[in-house]
Amino acid sequence: MDSHHMLQEIREQPQALGRILADTRPRIRAMVRAAWNTYHPSMFFLTGCGSSYYAAMIPAHYYTYSLGLNALALPSSEFVWYAPAPDGSSPILVSLSRSGRTSESVEAIRKARRVGMPSIAVTSDPASTMSEECDYSLDTGVTSEESVIMTKTFTGGALSVTLLGIEFSKAQGTNPIPQRFEDELGNLPEDMHRVVSAVDEQAKARAEAAKAKRFIYLGSGGNYASCLEGALKLRETSYAASECYHTMEFRHGPFAELEKGIQVISVAPKGKHAREQLALLKEIAATGANVLPISNEPTVTETFEDSIIMPESIGNELAPILYMAPLQLFAYYYAVKNGRNPDEPRNLTKFVTTEINSQT
Ligand code: AGP
Repeated sequence: MDSHHMLQEIREQPQALGRILADTRPRIRAMVRAAWNTYHPSMFFLTGCGSSYYAAMIPAHYYTYSLGLNALALPSSEFVWYAPAPDGSSPILVSLSRSGRTSESVEAIRKARRVGMPSIAVTSDPASTMSEECDYSLDTGVTSEESVIMTKTFTGGALSVTLLGIEFSKAQGTNPIPQRFEDELGNLPEDMHRVVSAVDEQAKARAEAAKAKRFIYLGSGGNYASCLEGALKLRETSYAASECYHTMEFRHGPFAELEKGIQVISVAPKGKHAREQLALLKEIAATGANVLPISNEPTVTETFEDSIIMPESIGNELAPILYMAPLQLFAYYYAVKNGRNPDEPRNLTKFVTTEINSQT
């Protein structure tokens, strides 16, 4: 059935990412110029709740390992409860939220203000509470989904916060932006289009064939955040049991869980760690668990018949954004196969309002 909003919104991601690069990026440049001239931030707290927290983890990886910025991703509630007052390190809060109304993320903005820390709210609603109460409001330009489930605002939020980091890194001037980053950004909308076209039918076939009731997701680097979100998508839409681990952490305990009937979904892009990932997947398969790699590494996809094969030419820097498409599609088709309505999961609303106390 192709009538659910979730499926349409997954397929809209190439256009949404293209709009951010064309229309939102100039606004990001102007905002960062102003924030840099006023605050010279040198420490970035990246927060959000649920999917928005996982989306913030992707740029946190880039900030730390590619952009020369000092960054920490954490749930908004953890920032509210534990974040220290600035100690001379010039921190700034970047809080990501589709709605701009989630209690913990609103409270994070308020806590930042109380401790004298500037804040940037990155939302899909410039009239939201967070947008009004922060120091700098960034409307990503990606409108909120009709579905309760976040898809295009997830990849759009991750990209927007990444672009913020690129501009801060340029302003800081100590770390040249890797050329491959700019090259991949230029290709991102087209690459996302190619990915969605390439994997839609494959994800459907794999989801419809999946017999497991329990799923384990494995990813590393920024792909760990994508796998956390992939596992959450499955839980939200199908109520299936799903877990997520850093790829190489899996041998350190969770391996004991493996048996026939468990489905392991591994994001395993080609690159310098392909051999180690393949070795792990073979060990997992030997236990009788079912292995479903999502990969553009031929040695992996040729080993496992049940792979989702990604286009070979996509680069690795933006893989955490591009690999979201097969993860989202797998969750979508699995939910539909199991008779769920992925647009309206039970017990869920688009955002949460709750009491949270930041007084220390
Ligand atoms: C929608 O159900 C999301 N999966 C959920 O985790 C959401 O991201 C979270 O509740 C925060 O919402 P926000 O992005 O509007 O702040």
